[in-house]
Amino acid sequence: MNKSEAKTRIEKLKKTINHHRYLYHVLDKQEISDAALDSLKKELFDLEQLHPDLITADSPTQRVGGAPLKEFKKVQHEERMLSLNDVFSKEDFYDWHERISKLLTEQEKAQLDFYCELKIDGLAIEMEYENGLFVRGSTRGDGVIGEDITQNLKTVQAIPLTLDEEKSLVVRGEVFISKKEFERQNKVLREKGLAEYANPRNIAAGSVRQLDPKITAARKLDSFAYDVVGGNFNCHEDEHKFLKKLGFKTNLNNKHCKSIEEVFAFYEHVGKIRAKLDYEIDGVVVIINNNALFEKLGVVGKAPRGAVAFKFAQSQATTIIEDIKIQVGRTGAMTPVAVLKPVVVSGITITRATLHNEDEIKRLGIKIGDTVIVGRAGDVIPDVIKVLPEFRTGVERNFHMPRVCPSCENELEKSEGEVLWRCNNAKCPARQRRNFYHFVSRTAFNIDGLGPKIIDRLLDEGLVADQADFFALQKEDVVHLERFAEKSAENLIDAIHAKKEITLAKFIYALGIRNVGEQTAIDLAMQFGRIEKLQRASLQDVEKILNIGPIVAKSAHEWFANKHNVKLLDKLFRAGIKIKKQNLESRILKLEGKSFVVTGSLESMSRDEAKAKIRELGGQVSESVSKKTSYVVVGAEPGSKAQKAEKLGVKILSEQDFLKMIE
Ligand code: IVH
Repeated sequence: MNKSEAKTRIEKLKKTINHHRYLYHVLDKQEISDAALDSLKKELFDLEQLHPDLITADSPTQRVGGAPLKEFKKVQHEERMLSLNDVFSKEDFYDWHERISKLLTEQEKAQLDFYCELKIDGLAIEMEYENGLFVRGSTRGDGVIGEDITQNLKTVQAIPLTLDEEKSLVVRGEVFISKKEFERQNKVLREKGLAEYANPRNIAAGSVRQLDPKITAARKLDSFAYDVVGGNFNCHEDEHKFLKKLGFKTNLNNKHCKSIEEVFAFYEHVGKIRAKLDYEIDGVVVIINNNALFEKLGVVGKAPRGAVAFKFAQSQATTIIEDIKIQVGRTGAMTPVAVLKPVVVSGITITRATLHNEDEIKRLGIKIGDTVIVGRAGDVIPDVIKVLPEFRTGVERNFHMPRVCPSCENELEKSEGEVLWRCNNAKCPARQRRNFYHFVSRTAFNIDGLGPKIIDRLLDEGLVADQADFFALQKEDVVHLERFAEKSAENLIDAIHAKKEITLAKFIYALGIRNVGEQTAIDLAMQFGRIEKLQRASLQDVEKILNIGPIVAKSAHEWFANKHNVKLLDKLFRAGIKIKKQNLESRILKLEGKSFVVTGSLESMSRDEAKAKIRELGGQVSESVSKKTSYVVVGAEPGSKAQKAEKLGVKILSEQDFLKMIE
C-alpha cells in the first residue's frame, strides 16, 4: 500500500471506527461485533505505526471513546482514565516489549517484571472515597469527563461503601455481570417478548447507566477493583494487596510474572480456565509491575506505554476479499470461494472462505476488493459475515459466475430449484482430483500422510489414474518425488497398505457417490450388509430404506449401475481391498433410533470422535437442531445450536451426561 492509499484507508478506518464507537458508547447500540471493531482498530494502529506522520489528534487511537450522556451529572476525573492498546499474538507482544525496551536503560530492562490481570469484559468505573466513605462513582466517559453513577454503584454489593480505614482515595475497577445473571436476565426479556442483550457487557453497561437505581439493583452487578489512583506504591502488585486489605474485591487469579515466558504461560493457563469462570473475560492485561518504570514510560495517545491488553483469539476479524475463485467439488458443484488477505480468526490464519453460491454473494452484496467481516462457522469453517461498503474506493469489481467449468470447460448446468451450477462431466479433472482427496480422507479410507499435496503430485506424474491405483503404488514410484526420501516413501506405502481393510459403510462413503454422506452410507451398509447385494439392488430396493429419499436412492442406484464404476469396484477388490466383517445385526445398538447434534468443544474427545461413537452405537448424527432431534450434546463455548435446542425444548446433554450414556 503506498502512502496515498494508506492515507485514504486511514481516513475510512477513522470514520468507521468513530461511527461504531458513537453508536456503542453514546447510544448503547451495536451494529458490528467487538471483535470486528477491534480488528479495524488494530489495522488503524498498525497503519499509523508505519506512517506516524498520518496520526491526527482526532484518531480513535488517540482518544478514549464515549462522550458522557446528557442525563447524568458530569464528573471530572482527577487523572485521565486511559484505555489500553491491544496485542493479539506473541509476535505483537514481542513488538510491544521491544518498543518499550528502547525507552529503558540496560539496568531498567534487567528489572522488568509484569503483573498480569484477567481482563474483565465489563465497564470501567472510578470510585472515590473520602475519610473511608464512598462518596462518588463514575463511568469513564471520554476519559476526562465521565457520568456520575454514584447511586447506581451503591447497589453493587462488591463495592464497599465504607472502608476498613478512614482513608481518602480514588480506586478504579470494572463492573460486570456474571454469565449466570446474563442468562437469567435474558430469559426474563425473552419471556416478555423483548429484545435480548448480545453479551453480558451490554447488560452491565445498560444497567450502570440507568437513571433509576432500582433497575440497577435488580440487575445484580458485580465488581473487581484493579487500580489505586496516585498513592505511594512500589509496584502494581502492592496496589492489589492494599485494595484487598481495604475490603475491595480483587481478582485472585491475577499473577505476578517475572519473565515473558511466564506471561505466555499465564495467558495460556487463563485461556484454559476461561470457560469455567463465572464471568466473561476477553484477554489478559499485562502491566509493567514496577511503578517507577511504568510512570517513566508515559502515555501515548489514549494508552499508557507500560501496559497492554493481550487479547484472546477473536472469533471475528475484518479483512479484504482479494479475489473470488471457483472451486470445483467432487460432485461437480461450482462453489465460489473468497481469496482473503490473510487474517487470524479464532487463533488460525485464514486465507479463503466459501461464499457458497451466487445467491449468497448477492445477498451479502459482495464485490471483489471489499472489506468484510469474517468468522468461522461452528468455530471451524471460515465464512464471510458482512460487507463494510463504507470502505469502498471505487476500484471494487462485481463477480460474475462463469458459464463453463474452469477445469474442463464443459458447459455448466443448473437444475430447476437448485442454487448451484454444476459440471456434469464425470471425467472432469478437477472433480476427479477432489474425489481422490475424499477417498483417502479421515472419514473415508483415512490414509495417514496422503494429503491433497501428495495426491496432486501423484496425479501430475501420472502415477495414479483411479482410486485403485493408490494400492498398486510401490516405494520406487514415490521415492523420486520432490521432498520424498527412502524412509518417507516407505512410510507412505506402509500407510496405504495398512488401510486395505475397511468397513462397508466407510467403503461406500469413500466412493464419493453424490448425495451419499456418512449417515446414508451407514444406512446402506446396514440394509445390504454386503457390497454385492448393494450392487445388485434395484432402485425400489434402495428407496425402501428408511431415511433414504428418492433423490439419494436414485444417485446411489445410478452410481452402481454405471459401467466405469463397476470396473473401478472390480479393480479395487483385485488391488486387495477387503471389507471388514461386521455383524451389524447382532450388535447391541444402544443409541438406535436416537438422533444427536454435537456442538461446542468437548474435553475428552473431538466432535468427530463423538459423532463416530454415536454412529457406532446405532445413533444418528445431524448438523442442525430440529424438533426431531433427541439430544444435543453441548461442549464448551457452544454455538447457536445449544440455544436453539433450548428454544425447541430438545434435551441437552453435558459432556458428562453423554459419556455416561455411551459408557
Ligand atoms: S488495568 C490504563 N485491569 O480494559 C488502563 N483494566 O482496554 C489500565 N479492564 O479501560 C487498566 N479488566 O476497563 C485493567 N484487570 C484489569 C481490567 C481492565 C478490564 C478494562 C478497563 C480498561 C480496558 C482497557
